[in-house]
Amino acid sequence: MSDQTTQDFKPFNVELWKYDGHAGALIPLLQSAQDTYGYVSEKAIDYISHVTGIPAADIYGVVTFYAQFRTRPLGKNIIKICNGTACHVNGSKMVYDTIQDELNITYDETTEDGNFSLLSVACIGCCSLAPVITVNGETFGRLEANKLRKIIRDFKRRAKQADEKTTAGVQ
Ligand code: FES
Repeated sequence: MSDQTTQDFKPFNVELWKYDGHAGALIPLLQSAQDTYGYVSEKAIDYISHVTGIPAADIYGVVTFYAQFRTRPLGKNIIKICNGTACHVNGSKMVYDTIQDELNITYDETTEDGNFSLLSVACIGCCSLAPVITVNGETFGRLEANKLRKIIRDFKRRAKQADEKTTAGVQ
């Protein structure tokens, strides 16, 4: 790893590295990297390669094998759909279909503009409000399609305004 690469890189917890002869021993390191940065970046892979002596290409292979790892940063707005039992019974599929229609992404994906990521979560403890989503930690419940579309479109409008402000600021 070059000095240039290490300069703006805060390494995560390498104490987790306990090599026991199989690729699975990498998992705690990769999880730590994802917890620290929100995804497993190329820099993180280079760093793990440096620490462990495992070729970066092999580490990348492990990252792409396991669905739990992301290789891209999360979007600016994070939407979590609850797929716990109460939400499942009360329409989490409708919630997913509506959001998928509005944003054209599936679980663990981020929109092209980097504004939204969609994640699936287990029960978040608001079952009486099922079906439920959170957006950036804020809970929205008793969702039906029209209400949900309004919520998502409102976040899209705000994201667009933020993008326009950023663009205006750099001109
Ligand atoms: S199952 Fe969705 S909040 Fe409990």
